[in-house]
Amino acid sequence: MLDLSKRARAISPSPTLSIDAKTKALVASGVDVINLSVGEPDFATPDQASLAAIAAITAHFTKYTAVSGILELRQAIAKKLFEENELKYTANEIIVSSGAKQSLYNIFMTILDPQDEVLLPTPYWVSYPEQIRLCEGIPVPLFTDESTQFKITPEQVERAITNKTKAILLNSPSNPTGTVYTPEEIQALADVLARYEIYVISDEIYEQLTYDVSHYSIASIPVMRDRTFVVNGFSKTFAMTGWRVGYVAAPEHLIQAMSSFQSHTTANPSSISQKAALGALGTFDRSTVTEYRKRRDFIVSALSRLEGIECVKPEGAFYVFPKASGVIGRKLTRPNGEKHVIESVDQLCEYLLTDAHLSVVPGTGFGAPNNFRISYATSLTNLEIAADRLRTFFDHLE
Ligand SMILES: Cc1ncc(COP(=O)(O)O)c(C=O)c1O
Repeated sequence: MLDLSKRARAISPSPTLSIDAKTKALVASGVDVINLSVGEPDFATPDQASLAAIAAITAHFTKYTAVSGILELRQAIAKKLFEENELKYTANEIIVSSGAKQSLYNIFMTILDPQDEVLLPTPYWVSYPEQIRLCEGIPVPLFTDESTQFKITPEQVERAITNKTKAILLNSPSNPTGTVYTPEEIQALADVLARYEIYVISDEIYEQLTYDVSHYSIASIPVMRDRTFVVNGFSKTFAMTGWRVGYVAAPEHLIQAMSSFQSHTTANPSSISQKAALGALGTFDRSTVTEYRKRRDFIVSALSRLEGIECVKPEGAFYVFPKASGVIGRKLTRPNGEKHVIESVDQLCEYLLTDAHLSVVPGTGFGAPNNFRISYATSLTNLEIAADRLRTFFDHLE
């Protein structure tokens, strides 16, 4: 058989999507699985977005648009960034893409040469390292754990910088940990970064979902603005995962380079989705944050009652990332008397799916093999059932 490229062979499929596929297969076979694996809001897309999309179709707004997105949308995003984030960008400093995932890939393709290093705090969102590798860069992990609430320190950043360091990735609020950096912590990181020629990729896609501290963008620090790519999108805030709209704000020369790249790959994001995004802006309903907070408090308290589980209370996004290394070595007894030793957290997640009918994502793909990720973007009723199943499962561990 003919070979695939080294690039294609080096890539692993998204673990979040593959656990989702296993879950769906189990559901299709009639099993009632509670799915806590997907990073997708359970709220509906706002009507304003859907109606704008329908109007776009009816008006035959169904042709190619400007590669970087329609001017109206880029202007509306600039207004949003100014009003909500105190960030000043013109429409020419914004590019709209088919999801923030594409925005990130465009950035890596635009700034990385082979062997360039990107500082990547762990635990990280699964696609960052794979995208960096696809662009022939090297992800350099900055390890964090529960002891610092999963936050990197300025000293850690300074120690990791080499003459190959091209960029650092910041993701606050974070997927998978829910960690949110305070303005003071962001400033302390900026103080170090400002001394070096390093780009900052600031993935702010969960910015609206914070509970105890407010989101703060590193691009609002004047010295950082011209080296920062602010990444955001409509998937999480507006429950618009399927519409595929993300964007980047950065200095114009960087946006132009990304636009050239995008012009030869996907060209513009869907014309209809762009109109939907325009309809969505400004409609974020803050009551969703209250709802997420209730769910977070419920699931964190349920997890804290399980022996062998350690759980930091997240301050943002809609994930918890418990540590489960305390469960390794324990034995699961099945109703038929079979006993199975749990040898890793990956295996624990498999047993949770097959025996407790709970779908969660193992931390390995996030660079944290002792943890697993629960998404609480599901109803409180589902979380209550999940908590019961977890308790029963843990009751059968020796
Ligand atoms: C941290 C983070 N960044 C970016 C994305 C990509 O979002 P989308 O491509 O749906 O806009 C996700 C989606 O899960 C995410 O969790």
